[in-house]
Amino acid sequence: MGENPLSAGGGRRPRAGTRRLLVAGALGALGTVTALAASVPAGAAAGTLGAAAAQSGRYYGAAIAAGHMNDSTYVATWDREFNAVTPENEMKWDATEPSRGSFRFTSADQIVSHAQSKGMKIRGHTLVWHNQLPSWVSGLSTTDLRSALVNHINNVMGHYKGKIYAWDVVNEAFADGGAVGTLRSSVWTQKLGNGFIEEAFRAARAADPNAKLCYNDYNIDDANANKTRGVYNMVKDFKARGVPIDCVGLQSHLSQGSVPSNYQQNIAQFAALGVDVQITELDIGGSGSAQADAYRRVTQACTAVPRCTGITVWGITDKYSWRSGDNPLLFDGNYNKKQAYTAVLDALN
Ligand code: G3I
Repeated sequence: MGENPLSAGGGRRPRAGTRRLLVAGALGALGTVTALAASVPAGAAAGTLGAAAAQSGRYYGAAIAAGHMNDSTYVATWDREFNAVTPENEMKWDATEPSRGSFRFTSADQIVSHAQSKGMKIRGHTLVWHNQLPSWVSGLSTTDLRSALVNHINNVMGHYKGKIYAWDVVNEAFADGGAVGTLRSSVWTQKLGNGFIEEAFRAARAADPNAKLCYNDYNIDDANANKTRGVYNMVKDFKARGVPIDCVGLQSHLSQGSVPSNYQQNIAQFAALGVDVQITELDIGGSGSAQADAYRRVTQACTAVPRCTGITVWGITDKYSWRSGDNPLLFDGNYNKKQAYTAVLDALN
């Protein structure tokens, strides 16, 4: 609130080229600068999204679907460009606990094993959501629903304990309309009340104390929108009362004309509450230079705020995007790099 977006950049780490110059300068005093300069040219830019993001300690991830892992170009592009992953559907409730108490991790494990073999960060998505919920859940009594919630969190987080960088503990709990703070009506609110979010976060902290716990939502990109204010107030309240929460995920499903002018200020206002911010499901409908400009702005907004720790795009290629008609991703249907790709890479560098 009242945050100066420009001041958020004050803590930004020096760019890689600047750091290399500083190192070269220091070593020059020791008489070794000539050899070093030949191997690490000052101002050299990283050639992939992951490497470029890593220069400032951030990750650049993609949502991956296990069902596409037989597409060798898909996997090759993932491995080459990205250093983080979010399973697109494989960790959701309908996939992991299709019937009560019976857990399945085969598809999610496929993604996790591959990511681990490449040293990637893994975001867990998602533990508590009103969507992709098997029908048995909505038939439970209040008491059973509460124990099913905790049991689900314990089993899924337990299975991946120590392997997940951040979990989307609760996804999309806030309503799109209504007064600030209005939650979406769901089986969760109807049977457990608004406190279900807090219950989920407390259970999650106990299940894997080392994973970062995030609240994740869409349409919370505008700093002043009612939905954003509701999430902001919840995070502030959780921090004040010691309810465990470590991060806010801005899904950021956007269009080239819809990146809010206060997007960076929004990231900064959440960060000022003492949580990390991650852009978790980025895709921007559009084309050409306008799409590229929108991607550049989003990228720069994250890199300007020290606690914005990484960006995940919601897919690799337009051909598999959930919004295929919008062509919202960084690679076209033939895995060619789009203008948006170059804009992101340049912004990260
Ligand atoms: O698995 C079945 C398959 O067996 C069947 O043949 C096929 C026929 O349609 O459907 C398959 O399931 C689909 C699933 O994706 C896997 O492809 C579902 O119908 C489809 O609804 C589901 O869509 C996913 C959507 O979440 C569901 O809400 C998208 O892939 C996924 O990208 C999308 O991701 C969400 C985030 O989790 C939360 N934020 C919004 C985002 C976009 O909607």
